[in-house]
Amino acid sequence: MKNSDKNIWQGESPPIYFDNAATSFPKPESVISEQNNYLLNIGANPGRSGHSLSVKAGEIVFKARKQLASMFGVKNPMRVVFGFNATDALNLAIKGTVQHGDHVITSAMEHNSTIRPLKQLEADDTISLTIVDADKNGRIDTQRVKESIRSNTSTVVINHVSNVNGVIQPIAAIGKICRDRNITFIVDGAQSGGYIPVNITKSEIDIYAFTGHKGLYGTQGTGGLIFADTFDYKKVKPLRAGGTGSRSSEIVQPDFLPDMFESGTLNVGGIAALCAGVEFVNEKGVENICKHEQQLAGYFQTKASETVPGFKTFGFDKQNAGIISFRIGYLSVSEIAGELSDRYGIMSRHGLHCSPLSHKSLDSFPEGTVRFGFSVFNTFEEVDDTVEALYEISKKAKVKSKETINHITH
Ligand SMILES: Cc1ncc(COP(=O)(O)O)c(C=O)c1O
Repeated sequence: MKNSDKNIWQGESPPIYFDNAATSFPKPESVISEQNNYLLNIGANPGRSGHSLSVKAGEIVFKARKQLASMFGVKNPMRVVFGFNATDALNLAIKGTVQHGDHVITSAMEHNSTIRPLKQLEADDTISLTIVDADKNGRIDTQRVKESIRSNTSTVVINHVSNVNGVIQPIAAIGKICRDRNITFIVDGAQSGGYIPVNITKSEIDIYAFTGHKGLYGTQGTGGLIFADTFDYKKVKPLRAGGTGSRSSEIVQPDFLPDMFESGTLNVGGIAALCAGVEFVNEKGVENICKHEQQLAGYFQTKASETVPGFKTFGFDKQNAGIISFRIGYLSVSEIAGELSDRYGIMSRHGLHCSPLSHKSLDSFPEGTVRFGFSVFNTFEEVDDTVEALYEISKKAKVKSKETINHITH
C-alpha cells in the first residue's frame, strides 16, 4: 500500500519503523495538522466556558466521540469516555467494576495493563482470579472460559489481539457466554482498534478499552472506554472525581455519561489528532489495513524462514493481526534489535513486551522475542531490506554460544 503521507519524514534517511505495536509512526499528515490546528487556532477548554473557542473545542471532542462510536458499532456517542491511554482505561474498567468477593476470569495472553490491576485486587483480597491457559500459539479455548465460571464470577477480561504475536481471540463467542450469564465482559482493544474490524454490539462486549496512539494513528495521551449501548454503566464506579464543567452547583460527581468518568481537562489536541486518525483509518478501510499488515507479516515470515539461518517464530499464523515475534539461533534478542537499530536503522522491540504470561504460553519466556508490528505505511521493500539485514546479523549467530542468551535486557 503506497501512501504519500509517508513523505512527511524530515530526517536524512527515513528509518524502517516496525515498532507500531508499541506506538504507530509515522502519523498521517492530517493527524499532525488537526492537532496543530487545535493548538494554533482553538486552544480552549471544552464544556467549561461559553465562548466560541470553547464551543469549537467541544465540537472537536463530540466529533471524535461520534467517529469512535461509529467505528466500533455503538449508537450513542456519549458512551465513549476519554482517558489517557489503554492502561488508564483498563484500570478504570477493572477496578471500577469489580466488588469485594467477586471472581474474575482472564487469560494467559494478557498485557500487564490487565494482569497487574487484577493481581493488585487479588492481593488485597478484593477478588479471586482465574487465569485461563492459552495453547502454544496463544489461542484461548472458549470452553475453558466457560468451565471456569463460578457462581460469583462477575467479570471476564480478555485481550482481543496479542501484542506479542497478533493472535486474535474468539471475542464474540466469549461475549455470548458472558451475556447469557449476565457477566460483565471487558475487552482490551489496545491492539485491535484500527487493526482489525471490531463491533462491540455484535461481539456482545460490555466495555471496550481503546488507545489512541497505535492502530488509530492518534498521538500519545489519548484512549478510553466505550460502553455498549445496553450496558448499565452505573455498575462502574469512577476512580477519579472532580471538575467536569457540568452541574457545577453540585458537590457530588455527576452520574451521567461521559462526565461521570471524565473529571479534569481533556487532552483536546490529542483528541483532535485521534479524530483525524480514525478518519484516516476509515478512508483506508480497516479491512484493507488488516490485510496489508497480515500480508507483510506473512511475507516476512516466509522470506526470513528461507533466508535467515536459525530464524524461528513464536505462534505465527497468517490469520493473526500483523504482529510477529521471532528469534535467530542463540543470538540474544537485545543484540538483534540493537544491531537492527544501530547498523540498519530498523526499529523493533525486544524482550517481553509487558506481557510475561504470553511468553510463558508461547514458550519464549524468559528471553522474550524480537517483535515487529506492521502499519499501513510499511512496504514489502522494507521487509526485503530487513531480511537482508537479519541474514547479515545471523552470520554472527554461528559463532555465538548458548551463553549469549543470558545477556539480554528487557
Ligand atoms: C494488548 C495491550 N494492552 C494494553 C496496552 C497498553 O496501552 P497504552 O500504552 O495505551 O496504555 C498495550 C500497549 O502496548 C497493549 O499492547
